[in-house]
Amino acid sequence: MTYRSQRVAYPYFVVALLLFGLQLVLGLWLAFNYWFTLPQAIVDVFPFSTARAMHTNLLVLWLLLGFMGATYYAIPEETQSELAWPRLALAQLVLLAGTGVVALVGFLFGWTQGRPLLEIPRPLDVLVVVGALMFLANVGATVLRARRFTATQGSLLAGLTFLALLYLVGIPFYRNLAVDWYYWWWVVHLWVEGAWELVAAALVAFLIIQLTGIERRVVEKWLYVELGLFLFTGIVGTGHHYYWLGAPRYWLVAGGVFSALEPLPIALMLVDTWRHMRASRRPLRPRLTWVFLFGMAVLHFVGAGAFGFAHTLPQINYYTHGSQVTVSHGHLAFYGAYVLVNLSFFYFAVPRLRRFPTDEYRSALGHWGFWIASVSLLGMSLAFAVAGVLQAYLERVQGQAFMVAQAPMRFWMLAAFLHGLGVLVGGSMIIGHLLTLKPAPAA
Ligand code: HEM
Ligand code: HEM
Ligand SMILES: [Fe+2]
Repeated sequence: MTYRSQRVAYPYFVVALLLFGLQLVLGLWLAFNYWFTLPQAIVDVFPFSTARAMHTNLLVLWLLLGFMGATYYAIPEETQSELAWPRLALAQLVLLAGTGVVALVGFLFGWTQGRPLLEIPRPLDVLVVVGALMFLANVGATVLRARRFTATQGSLLAGLTFLALLYLVGIPFYRNLAVDWYYWWWVVHLWVEGAWELVAAALVAFLIIQLTGIERRVVEKWLYVELGLFLFTGIVGTGHHYYWLGAPRYWLVAGGVFSALEPLPIALMLVDTWRHMRASRRPLRPRLTWVFLFGMAVLHFVGAGAFGFAHTLPQINYYTHGSQVTVSHGHLAFYGAYVLVNLSFFYFAVPRLRRFPTDEYRSALGHWGFWIASVSLLGMSLAFAVAGVLQAYLERVQGQAFMVAQAPMRFWMLAAFLHGLGVLVGGSMIIGHLLTLKPAPAA
């Protein structure tokens, strides 16, 4: 850490990690609901839909806070200047975290818009927009004042601006539900398969430049290729959500072809990370930071690329749409790409923010946490996938009713729950480890 104002990143990471823990607990509750029939009295006060909204909104909130913290850490290094308004960055954290808490409590009382992932009510949307403007103004002013532009910082800022603009598209409500879902996907799909990919790619480029000492020129050249491919495939790829929505028929072809190409940039990111690791001018230290970074490149490819490809063609999606196959992919993709990119960044930045004598830290607990959480999450996704294939067969081939098909799926939802316990254990180890990170003893 070279600049004082980078310190604002730390409270962002702490809040993000705590929300991550809460998200995991709610995930377990959801999976429990799938294999155990709760008394109606509990369902009446705490329905599945409420817990699901809390689980997914917590996910989005903590990942975004993590991205913002990471940006506040990276931008001073990239621009070689202090942040324009460090105190504003802290006020923004209080505003966004406060809005999140109000939203979660509101869900408990049924205060929701009902649209999955974008449940938070209109007045709170306004606060989110204010928070996003505070963020973009702060980062924008820092960049403009410093007059030093890098491709990494440009991609980061472009991704974040794109992300904020897309949020606006999700705010209006259209009475025609086909139209409403059409735009809902602009937010949900173009976030995770567009804007967030730009942010993640830029953060990974930043980490690689910092950790390997490879020339910026080389890393950024590949960053451009990745970004171009992400946008080229991801934007038209939105069509893989328009197959059965009442949108024009050409989306079957356009969505199928372009989304089938989406794994390409993700594969390129994996190959680039691998090549840069091999070309590194420095030893790949600290090892745990690299375990997270490379683990992210691999699981990003498996979860988003392979599991995404598996159901993206209309011929297959016709059977799997909206089933537990989707849930399987959703978990592995979010974890592989965005959970791990955030955790990698935290492992890189925390020793620097806490001014450890060297960048080395005690890492045993974190290694255990990584492997327990990742293997359990993979197992959980496979359990969801089996449940989903069963569901697709029973409902869409045999024509069984939704609740009839649930009975044979129960066992696999129990399997998902048990693996979920592992995710909670591993996740808690990572959270606890990062929050109490200690310097490695001097050699
Ligand atoms: C403790 C481990 C977890 C368990 C047991 C769990 C379980 C669940 C369940 C049962 C659902 C509802 C699926 C449905 O509506 O049919 C769900 C939704 C979701 N969870 Fe988790 N979850 C866990 C951790 C996570 C993590 C770590 C992430 C992020 C990487 C995550 C992301 C999501 C997403 C994105 C959805 C919405 C899926 C969709 O719309 O298809 N969950 N989770
Ligand atoms: C890191 C990137 C990605 C993340 C985080 C992600 C996450 C998700 C989530 C959470 C959903 C469920 C949305 C809902 O219905 O509530 C979903 C749906 C879907 N994803 Fe992804 N995804 C990613 C990349 C991809 C890629 C690259 C592909 C294709 C190659 C893909 C193909 C699909 C398809 C086809 C659906 C719709 C499933 C259905 O019809 O029910 N995804 N994704
Ligand atoms: Fe998509």
